[in-house]
Amino acid sequence: MPRIVVVGSINMDLVTLAPRFPGPGETLLGSRFLTAHGGKGANQAVAAARLGASVSMVGALGRDAFGDQLHAGLAQEGIDLAHVARLDDEGSGTASITVAEGENQIIVVPAANARVSPAQVETARASIAQADAVLVQLEIPFDTVEATLRLARRENVPAILNPAPAQKLPAEWLQLASYLTPNQHELATALGAGAATDFRELMRRAPCPVVLTRGSEGAWYRDAAHPEPVHQPGFKVEVVDSTGAGDTFNGALAVFLREGLPQAVRKACAAAALSVTKLGAQGGMPTARELETLLTRQAK
Ligand code: RIB
Repeated sequence: MPRIVVVGSINMDLVTLAPRFPGPGETLLGSRFLTAHGGKGANQAVAAARLGASVSMVGALGRDAFGDQLHAGLAQEGIDLAHVARLDDEGSGTASITVAEGENQIIVVPAANARVSPAQVETARASIAQADAVLVQLEIPFDTVEATLRLARRENVPAILNPAPAQKLPAEWLQLASYLTPNQHELATALGAGAATDFRELMRRAPCPVVLTRGSEGAWYRDAAHPEPVHQPGFKVEVVDSTGAGDTFNGALAVFLREGLPQAVRKACAAAALSVTKLGAQGGMPTARELETLLTRQAK
């Protein structure tokens, strides 16, 4: 069973379904509202746990109603929460999400996530040292991301840096990360490049292996063994809600990394495809058996 540590955010997603996105100053009637468990860190942790990994999470929640629900949800998935802080003086993170026309728009209020500290990462040193992979994203403070990358490097544990939401990255992080897993926009932003630059050219510029996600088109990867970007086509599914597809991809990638990058990327694409067939970031995340079913069907 692979051991994964996720250092990242935990949010309550406030999801509204609408026929289209409203313009500035416009009020629209939506068709449905729901709360769903989310946050890039928590989503990646759940994706990995459903696929059979032993997962430990480093993060922070408020001591509020959302915090209680999110904590219980993660515990139910079998995730070790020993390094998830409960803060008395801060609320839990939220994400206001509008889903329309198969796309989403998201506004995140980090709240407790902004207090995930380098000291917490240090406290999780023993778990990180024993992990098969560490996952980290950009919804927590930059110095915490950096502390995670440095610790993983010191302990010789592969670190997957999912540079989402898009931000320009310190050049050193591109050396510290074992894998960078952006979409095209995130890669251009991470490297401080023009948005119009060809994504294959951007991938060649990164000094570490890159796995670039392309939505329904699947993913591209490039590493020392594959110096030219290689395409893994996507799996065809009916899209209900694409929220959390990238997180499912990252969680699965971490779980299957030890099978080699091509196989891990193929399985991550399949897991991400299944994740978009249900509502909510974590709603469609597959179990190991559901993933196998899709992969076997595809192989026939
Ligand atoms: O990647 C999807 C996630 O981004 C949502 O669950 C939301 O919480 C935001 O963090």
